[in-house]
Amino acid sequence: MATRVGGMSAPGRSPSAARTAVVWEALHRLLQVQSRGRATELRVLDVGGGTGGFAVRVAELGHRVTVVEPSPDALAILDRRSEETGVADRVTGMQGDIATMPGLVGSGAVDVVLCHGVLEVVDDPAAALAAVTEVLRPEGTLSLLVAQRHAAVVVRAMAGHLDQARDLLEGHRPEGSPRRFTAEETSALLTEAGFVDATLHAVRVFSDLVPSSLVDGEPRAATALADLERAVSERPEYLTLAAQIHALATRRP
Ligand SMILES: C[S@@+](CC[C@H](N)C(=O)[O-])C[C@H]1O[C@@H](n2cnc3c(N)ncnc32)[C@H](O)[C@@H]1O
Repeated sequence: MATRVGGMSAPGRSPSAARTAVVWEALHRLLQVQSRGRATELRVLDVGGGTGGFAVRVAELGHRVTVVEPSPDALAILDRRSEETGVADRVTGMQGDIATMPGLVGSGAVDVVLCHGVLEVVDDPAAALAAVTEVLRPEGTLSLLVAQRHAAVVVRAMAGHLDQARDLLEGHRPEGSPRRFTAEETSALLTEAGFVDATLHAVRVFSDLVPSSLVDGEPRAATALADLERAVSERPEYLTLAAQIHALATRRP
């Protein structure tokens, strides 16, 4: 059985750790607050959880995690990862998507939903969030991670793809490319789906801009980058520069 870990896991010093540290640390704090005073572990659902990068870490904290994921290959890797990490008894993979999720897990069945990198690829983000609302218990929490549009405009322009930058700026989305959201659109979607008390964090403000040659194999630089990401994550003025927005929101009672 996995043991509950008291302290926050070290974010690590790799460039990829700098990209996920802000999300992981906010999620870790949320799980600590939610599980306080509860006799049992939390029921966590990771929709579109992929190969289980977050799900396995949440299970390592002692919670029970269900991953609803359309890709059988990703689910196979999730199973292997759960076995290798010793949390297979706490992680359940189910093949499905966000639309079929309520039928798989039931209404009001979970305490926390992770929906990371999924609204970008679904046909109807509002319907997808409505499905999330359905599976959460009243006052349960959503951890939502979405791509942020303005940062993508800057990145395209800096790479010299000026027409693409202009298209993105105007809100056009080339066929097959992921959807991107502004902070205002993210907040509006959450409100419409019945969420309150949303807090938005700026994620990957600098990680995608700092040349990897400056941080690869440079642990001190990687740590400094993660610290900088942490420092700007709660500053609203940086939301427009962030590659991703992380939102924590509560389902209305
Ligand atoms: C960008 S990946 C994110 C994976 C993981 N959540 C993470 O943060 O590492 C998007 C995931 O969403 C899954 N996905 C695609 N369409 C989906 C849908 N309609 N419902 C649920 N998941 C979907 C993909 O298979 C993939 O695993």
